[in-house]
Order: sequence, then C-alpha cells, then structure tokens
Amino acid sequence: MRLSVIGCGYLGAVHAAAMASIGHEVVGIDVDQRKVDALSAGKAPFFEPGLQEILEAGIASGRLSFTTDMAAASGAAVHFIGVGTPQQKDGYAADLTYVNAAVDALVPHLSEGDVVAGKSTVPVGTAATLTPRVEAAGATLVWNPEFLREGWAVQDTVDPDRLVVGVPAGEAGERAADVLREVYHPAVAKETPFIVTDLPTAELVKVAANAFLATKISFINAMAEIAEATGADVTQLADAIGHDVRIGRRFLGAGIGFGGGCLPKDIRAFSARAEELGRGESVAFLREVDAINLRRRERAVQLVIESLGGSVFKKNITVLGAAFKPHSDDIRDSPALDVAVRLRGLGAWVTVTDPEALENAERIHPQLSYVKDRDEALRGADLVLVVTEWDEYRRQLSPEHAATLTAGRIVVDGRNCLDAAAWRDAGWEYHGMGRP
Ligand code: UDX
Repeated sequence: MRLSVIGCGYLGAVHAAAMASIGHEVVGIDVDQRKVDALSAGKAPFFEPGLQEILEAGIASGRLSFTTDMAAASGAAVHFIGVGTPQQKDGYAADLTYVNAAVDALVPHLSEGDVVAGKSTVPVGTAATLTPRVEAAGATLVWNPEFLREGWAVQDTVDPDRLVVGVPAGEAGERAADVLREVYHPAVAKETPFIVTDLPTAELVKVAANAFLATKISFINAMAEIAEATGADVTQLADAIGHDVRIGRRFLGAGIGFGGGCLPKDIRAFSARAEELGRGESVAFLREVDAINLRRRERAVQLVIESLGGSVFKKNITVLGAAFKPHSDDIRDSPALDVAVRLRGLGAWVTVTDPEALENAERIHPQLSYVKDRDEALRGADLVLVVTEWDEYRRQLSPEHAATLTAGRIVVDGRNCLDAAAWRDAGWEYHGMGRP
C-alpha cells in the first residue's frame, strides 16, 4: 500500500521506517528540512535500537522516502498523523498546534476514500473537532493510538501487543478499519488483538494506559517513602506483591521516578482535559501521582547530601546516566538530569556520563561537565550516583573496578538497579531508594 506519515519525530520516523519494512511504500513528511535531509540520507536523527537498519534498508529498497513537501502525500491510501502534542508553555493542557497544522496542510492533498489515521496522543474529543475538515475532503478520520516505548519502538511498531482503531459509525468507518487491517497485515496474521472502537474510546485508551503506568510507578514510589520511614525494603515489597498476577511485577521499579516525553505530559494533559469536561475530580489522583513522582527527585538529592555528611558543596559527584531511561538518547523531562542539575545548583562538581544522551544533555544543561568514557567520569569521584539503569552501569561495572577509580566509596542507586550486596562486599557504602 502507499502510505504517508506526517511528522517524523520519535513516533513518525519509526512508524514510517517500520511500515516500509513490512512492504509498504511510504513517504515521511516533516517541516524540518534538517530532519528530512538526515532521514533521506538513511541517518536516524536520534538513537533508537534497530531504527538505523530499517531506515537504510527502506531507502535502499526505494519504498521509503522523506520530504518537506505535503503534496507528496497525495496518492497514499492512508495518511498517518504522528506530530508532537507537547505540554503548553503556560499550563498543563496539550498544545494541539501541530496536529491542527498537519491536518490543515494535508486536507488539500486528500482524495475521496483516503483514510487519515491519527497516531499522536491527544486529549479525548480532538478527533471530533478534526473530523469535519477531513470529511469535507471525502476522506475518513480514524484514531489509531501508538503504544510504543522508546528503546523498543521498532519492535513495538512491527509487533505490537494490541492494535486499537477508533472509527466513526457507519460504512466508511468499517471500511477504514479494514484498510488498517491491511496496513498491519503481519500483526493481524499473528492474531494480535485488533480492537475496533469509536473515536473517543480510542483516544482515551492511550491516555488511560499512560495514566495507569504512571500511577503504578508512583504507587511503588509512595511505598518507598513509607519504607524509608520504617526500615522496610521496597524492592522486596515489589517482588512480593508482584507475584500476584493481578498486580504484576513490571512497572514496580521504585527510584527517581518517571520522565520522558510521554508519561509526565500525558497525565497533566489528561487532568487538564478532565477539568474542561467538568470531571476534574475523577482524575484528581493524577495530581498526586505527579507530586509523588517529583518528590522522588528531591529525595535523591537529599540522599546524596546525607551520604556526604550534610553538604555537597565542592564535592565531586559522578552521575551515571542522563537519558530518561536506558536504550534511549531522549532527555526530555529526564529525572536523571533534573537531579544532576539540582546537585550542581547546591555547589557540587557534577560529572555526567551516558552511552547515548550526552550531546543532547550538553546542549540543554551546559553547566554540568560531560565525559563520554565511563571510567574517566568515575575517576576521583567522592560519590557515585546511578540515575539511568544502562547495562553499562548495572551489569558491566564491577564494584571492585569502580573502587580503583573513585576517591570515595559511596554509591547512591537512584534506580535500585545495582546488586547492593556485591557493592557492599566490595567495601562500598550503598544507598538505594526506599531500602534500608
Ligand atoms: C511510555 C509508555 O510505556 C508507552 O506505552 C507510551 O506509548 C509512551 O510512554 P516511554 O516514555 O518510552 O513509554 O517509557 P517507559 O518505558 O514507559 O518509561 C517511562 C519512565 O518511567 C522512565 O523514566 C522510566 O525510567 C520510568 N519507570 C519505568 C520507573 O521509574 N519505574 C518503572 O518500574 C518503570
């Protein structure tokens, strides 16, 4: 099939390349000439495992191209909208400028019977406001939310655990659902759950899923706060409750909390939308979820201060990790960098290392010092702070080796990802979060 993908950021670039990898002819369209040039040359503009390979293969096959020219969308049967919906500058609501602009720019190039499939995360009710513009061009608007995780985006796109399509009532909607079944043919052939629903439900599925995940993380972080007051160990608690299949162990990782381009802004946008709908109290708990999450960053700072005897002033602190999570170079709302910046603000000498995110971090926070080589970064540290659980720190850094590089033997594990016993055995003073 011929497809167009409007917006070539984390979502759109992966979607375009992944759709080409399963045999479609895809044009990716973005307003950013530099991004288009990089993608056209087969270069992934950000780090995402597997993206580079499918991008190169797609371009070499002739099935994948990128342009800034919206007219290139004409002739495609399905047009995916994958532009950003960031948090508004002066509030919590989602900024829909890019979604509106993308639809307005696309409409003149639509043909009768085309399907426009929104993938961006939007406040429930957005599709209803866009529908008249799309239908006036004879096309059908559906919402097909994306559940991909950064670091696993290619796999999640090609082989998702479910597909959700919100369609308008009637024949056009049914036909559009069939068209999307054809688009996602490998997943459909594998009998991946394919849920066809109405537009508001599809929009809501996405925000509800992210709200649930954020709530799960803040729940365990709230338990970490209680554990800290009682001498309990939140990691053992998570293991124990996680054995209950109704609860499940995943997303019960206590530590410095969630960040990134999705969960924080999505729960805030959800709160704002619920307020607009007069249902603010239904999701009032999301404010608490956000507050607990932000408190954990502050707690990490306190833990470092306590571990260094009451002050970080002029202490050398090596921060392992800058990305908001491993397998990503994304630093949007990264708890890791937030903690590092606060420590610098308190007068510590902060050295940050990360396998992928250093360039992005350096651009935004020039006040920190950045060292690419992990061992070089560790040299002379009074305290080591782990804030992103890359394998390079979690598995591949032995405490004995680290001890040959640092000045002090204090490690604060902001992700509860190290083997505490091994570090203690090697002579380190180990501090986890929510652990005695
Ligand atoms: C999330 C959703 O998982 C995905 O389905 C949606 O499409 C987009 O938002 P992503 O932002 O890529 O994906 O990251 P995710 O893996 O969900 O992690 C989010 C944050 O939560 C990270 O900062 C991570 O470190 C943190 N986290 C995750 C925890 O603190 N504890 C956990 O147990 C799990």
